Amino acid sequence: MVGMAVQETGSVCRCADKISDSAGSGPGGQVVDEVSGIVREVMTKYRHHKGMLVHALQDVQRVLGYLPEDALRIVAEELDFPFAQVYGVASFYTQFYFSPRGKNILQVCVGTACHIRGAPAILGRFEQELGIKAEETTADFEFTLGAVSCVGCCGLAPVVVANERVVKKKDHHKIITRLRKQAEDSAVG
Ligand code: FES
Repeated sequence: MVGMAVQETGSVCRCADKISDSAGSGPGGQVVDEVSGIVREVMTKYRHHKGMLVHALQDVQRVLGYLPEDALRIVAEELDFPFAQVYGVASFYTQFYFSPRGKNILQVCVGTACHIRGAPAILGRFEQELGIKAEETTADFEFTLGAVSCVGCCGLAPVVVANERVVKKKDHHKIITRLRKQAEDSAVG
């Protein structure tokens, strides 16, 4: 893992784009219906299995890319839980997201060792370059920027993780450019 170059994560579900694009189409909109159908299909195997709530949420997020409110309501309905209980469980775990995520996930470690060795400046540079703040996603859904606590590589501080891979310190300044180029190359190819 140490010193590995940035690589693409592979195919990315576009359902999040559909949900985002549906903003304003109303609860009866075609796209919303389509997403509801997807969630109901995922939930087929979990129906009425209350003990499988976390697994169900993981599966729905795997398909949609995040957990929109409509999806949580369907999960609640299918498992006979109150919506508030499903939302409470989903919000307890950091693995679940309530807004669409980018194709590329950049995480700047802001743990103590990384903080001392310049993490705030790195985070600030990424925020400036991407035009977003930490925990936000770019409008084109290419990048989500995160600030995380210690990722267990303190000896490499300051640490940046791009798509679950630690990026070499000397390559920090090239990460965004490289990921954008990879996206362009894959679009052409
Ligand atoms: S503090 Fe950043 S890896 Fe430990």
